[in-house]
Amino acid sequence: MADEDDQQANPTDSYDEVLDAADGYARAWLSGIRERPIPPRLGVEEVKDRLGRTLPDPGEPATDVIARLAEEAEPGLIAMGSPRFFGWVIGGTQPVALAADWLAAAWDQNTGLRNITPGVVAAEELAGEWLVDLLGLPTGSEVGFTTGATMAQFTCMAAARDAVLARVGWDVETAGMAGGPAVRFIVGEERHGTVDLAGRYLGLGTPIAVRSDEQGRIRVDELRATLAAGEGPAIVLLQAGNIHSGAYDDFGAAITVAHEAGAWVHVDGAFGLWAGASPRLRHLVDGVEGADSWSTDAHKTLSVPYDCGIAIVGDGRPMHRALSMHASYLQATDVGADPHEKVPELSRRARGIPTWAVLRSLGRTGVARLVEGLADAARGIADGVAELPGVEVLNDVVFTQVCLALDDDAATEALSERLWHEGEVLAMTSRWRDRSVVRFSVSNWGTDAAEVRRTVAAVERAVAAVVE
Ligand SMILES: Cc1ncc(COP(=O)(O)O)c(C=O)c1O
Repeated sequence: MADEDDQQANPTDSYDEVLDAADGYARAWLSGIRERPIPPRLGVEEVKDRLGRTLPDPGEPATDVIARLAEEAEPGLIAMGSPRFFGWVIGGTQPVALAADWLAAAWDQNTGLRNITPGVVAAEELAGEWLVDLLGLPTGSEVGFTTGATMAQFTCMAAARDAVLARVGWDVETAGMAGGPAVRFIVGEERHGTVDLAGRYLGLGTPIAVRSDEQGRIRVDELRATLAAGEGPAIVLLQAGNIHSGAYDDFGAAITVAHEAGAWVHVDGAFGLWAGASPRLRHLVDGVEGADSWSTDAHKTLSVPYDCGIAIVGDGRPMHRALSMHASYLQATDVGADPHEKVPELSRRARGIPTWAVLRSLGRTGVARLVEGLADAARGIADGVAELPGVEVLNDVVFTQVCLALDDDAATEALSERLWHEGEVLAMTSRWRDRSVVRFSVSNWGTDAAEVRRTVAAVERAVAAVVE
């Protein structure tokens, strides 16, 4: 008989206690998120001290590790899930999305191959089809789940680079970029910085920036002139949702101009593409379906946990050419493409699962209401703060972004700092059209009318303190 010590423990026996501990800490965090001060109380070095800087030897029991992590990191956490968190573009997490994410983590399916992980690939493929339909994009478009919009842009632009070079007889996947035709990479001057990053990963160099109008929309006349001034393969980047104003490019006109010049058109719609899911707001993306590819985030507007971006291409073939790898030990599908052929990486978690869960839970009308709720809250904040003495709202509030300013830059920056120190509302400073602004990006599903009132009241207190 085997000695008791030699017997293999059932690996599942050890999960219960540690998962219960994590569950308790997670619930405590979530139940406190609305009322706790938003900014972190401690910085990185202080948290390192609290966590302990030395690698322990021997190691510690799992429940102690979880307790240490939850208790010692907690003062360094920022309440990004607060309904009064308006920094950057950060979505809160819907309960069903978190629960689905936990399941995806527990299942731990390496979601590269249709034949091997059908349970999660099925849910991701359905979510992809539903998204294309909801956003009003061409049926049959190919969808990849990436870490975020940056990598979704990269994914779509890899397809774009392949396609525009193939049209002039250059196979970039075998020949590389060196010695090949130059690709003109054309953007609006107010594109998001990650567009440049995605272009840089692809060897496209610094983009050619076309001037934008006063709300940050690409000027179509200038786009036409820029395209006419050069020749050869071109990729044009348009934007659904300017980070400061929320403005949308004129897709109908810009896409026509770009296509007449033979360019591939990609639309960065990290948060703004979601207007397409609302009958009331769909006019903002009129004509967007005429582009060749689109990128967006589920971890912003759709309220799934980090990290989940979505890359969509109308014709999947250049995407597959750009991103596929084949190996005899991988059991490739003979139906369409495998998940790994739609994203940059081979191995990844089933990160589309929370997206499937939110779409299933909200349904078509629920998604429309979610998007409209964010836009309504932005309108409410803009209207409320515009009444305050000395406050000017600088942008046309068409979607979820509000930029306000006081008379001078120093006062505007002091306002944002004041909000940070009070901790009830987080809205950070930025520079837009040569002025310091405080940006509100409404991206949390919990920002209702009551939260809007609390937000305006907090801004009122901060303004009074700054201008006193
Ligand atoms: C318009 C736009 N594009 C791209 C991105 C990059 O998205 P991610 O941080 O998910 O990579 C953002 C992020 O806020 C954005 O607002």
